[in-house]
Amino acid sequence: MSAHEDSHSNPGSQQKEELLKHEPGGDPPRNGITRRGFLKGAGITAAGTALLEGVHGFNTAAQSTDPGVKVLGPGAVPVTLSVNGKDHAIQIEPRTTLAEALRIQIGLTGTKVICDRGSCSGCTVWLDKMPVNSCTMLAIDALGRHVTTIEGLSEAGQLHPVQAAFVKHDALQCGFCTPGMVMSCAALLESNSHPTEQDVRHAISGNLCRCGTYARIFAATLDAAGTSRKA
Ligand code: FES
Ligand code: FES
Repeated sequence: MSAHEDSHSNPGSQQKEELLKHEPGGDPPRNGITRRGFLKGAGITAAGTALLEGVHGFNTAAQSTDPGVKVLGPGAVPVTLSVNGKDHAIQIEPRTTLAEALRIQIGLTGTKVICDRGSCSGCTVWLDKMPVNSCTMLAIDALGRHVTTIEGLSEAGQLHPVQAAFVKHDALQCGFCTPGMVMSCAALLESNSHPTEQDVRHAISGNLCRCGTYARIFAATLDAAGTSRKA
């Protein structure tokens, strides 16, 4: 299984999937909320869950009649995102993706947006050490979680072993896919300190490199793990 997190395990995602069942031409909208309304910017999530921790204000006039469910937005709301060990108080519309919040609101542009539709994993960050595509995840779904970006991998000016190995093995050409590749490879080593090449191949199976640097990425990751390359 790919290491990328299954969005179906996320309570916020389940709420949104419920909303998406009712348009177009289908059942009437529930609780006054339609798919069109959601896509225009209304985010919805369950009150009392970790997802809402850090949300300091709501559009209470737009609250759902469903107990325990509140509507955020569609205007910007103040939230606090935990990124690379620091809390960032920002104002975002609920439709804001995690990638947008990281790059635009917080200014961490190391996370790259390439396809912006979940097909290349160039935007990979960690959510509680699990690699996720930040372009297809709403920032509000990261509330109460710990986000790690490529900027957060190095410590005290020291590159993460995977970053250092990418440099040593020249495992990049244009470099655009590299932050996402590094995040996926480093996540692998968090869960498997002695991977085989097959493990590395599996870990980056969702990461696309148009320059074709895969062989060097395998070598770099195995080197970082202290294991020799296996055919
Ligand atoms: S930019 Fe997010 S998956 Fe391609
Ligand atoms: S190094 Fe260019 S896309 Fe991977």
